Amino acid sequence: MARPLRETAELNLYRHKSTIKILVGLIAILIVVVSVYYNNFIVHLLKERERNTVDVFARSIEFMAEQGDHANVTFINEHIIKSNTTIPVILADQMGEPTLDYLNLDIPENLSEAELYEMLRAEINNMRAENEPIQVVYRNAANQVEHVEYVFYRNSDLLRQLSYYPFIQLSTILLFGALAYLAFSYSRTAEQNRVWVGLAKETAHQLGTPLSSLMAWLEYLRADERTMQHEALPEMAKDLEKLHLITERFSNIGSVPVLELTSVPEMIHSSVSYLQKRISTKVKITVSTVGNDLRAQLNPHLFGWVIENVIKNAVDAMSGIGTIDIRIAPGNNNTVYIDIVDNGKGISKSNLKKVFEPGFTTKKRGWGLGLTLAKRIIDHYHRGRIYVKHSEPNVGTTFRIVLRS
Ligand SMILES: Nc1ncnc2c1ncn2[C@@H]1O[C@H](COP(=O)(O)OP(=O)(O)O)[C@@H](O)[C@H]1O
Ligand SMILES: [Mg+2]
Repeated sequence: MARPLRETAELNLYRHKSTIKILVGLIAILIVVVSVYYNNFIVHLLKERERNTVDVFARSIEFMAEQGDHANVTFINEHIIKSNTTIPVILADQMGEPTLDYLNLDIPENLSEAELYEMLRAEINNMRAENEPIQVVYRNAANQVEHVEYVFYRNSDLLRQLSYYPFIQLSTILLFGALAYLAFSYSRTAEQNRVWVGLAKETAHQLGTPLSSLMAWLEYLRADERTMQHEALPEMAKDLEKLHLITERFSNIGSVPVLELTSVPEMIHSSVSYLQKRISTKVKITVSTVGNDLRAQLNPHLFGWVIENVIKNAVDAMSGIGTIDIRIAPGNNNTVYIDIVDNGKGISKSNLKKVFEPGFTTKKRGWGLGLTLAKRIIDHYHRGRIYVKHSEPNVGTTFRIVLRS
């Protein structure tokens, strides 16, 4: 049988999805690391430059003190000392006590002298935590050290903002990325829903007309004396019954299905007796129930489809011979557990996460849609859960279905 769909680019892309995710993640981490690193580098450069500026400032004070009242002092004062309009500085004495020489600090005007000193002292403590102060050395005419002072300084606002910048930028991008992802995945889910529903409705609709016509023909043959005894009639009736069931399933998945409080053991027994006739007699299906009156909200047509898919997979996992145990038991919080235990070849660890993905199959003739459909029916239409409870290569697999009662 030709299966052109299997080779389409889309399915291939789907199979590489996790690789793509990892790649995108790695690139994102690389961008974060590079931008934080580069920003740190710039912050470091700027910090050095600011220290240089403060150093020139300190040297100028020394120079002015040496020159006394000389003429070029004015130039230095105007063009070097006052040119610093961004870095907050305080000149302090030998003991680290502030003098009243400071620049670029936000200090209210009407402070008393005591309050002002208090403020400057507090500011000096902050500055000390940020940067080592720079010494100013005063010498006498004989070039001996007379006394020293200290220039305390703080990073400029520019430097401060620059060090926060990558975090603000990256968190903005992250937030935007998360919102975009949510929006896209929401619209993708909505689109998938439309496809499921549309395709199912269309199929049910298209099957409907020839089916009712075939039923009418069957009635006609049953009524005609010449054919009413024909051995083909009961077989045709069975096949029509089956076609009818398929149509019913598609029409249920294409609309909001009606859930009824149904006895789970009865439902399972009827599915199993139907299936047992259609699979090898060497595969034995047993059903056991713990507790009584296990009922759950379910749609018989859709739920039967799920059981059929899971059991068919279990049969496929065996080489023609084996056992399938279906165990029904009460679960937590008003639920019913249905465990389907097989002794087939099991699922490898790396495939465990993928079995419910559309298009995932390990079979030559598989479509990889059976479990996708089962999951959709259980999650979406029954608000329950289906998952691989346990699987061990060459030992077997247990699927668990959780239904609400
Ligand atoms: N009971 C099981 N034991 C082993 N493998 C399983 C079992 N059920 C499902 N699988 C694996 O999950 C895959 C997907 O199953 P399914 O969605 O029904 O698609 P398909 O049956 O067309 O392959 C199967 O190809 C198989 O590899
Ligand atoms: Mg299958």
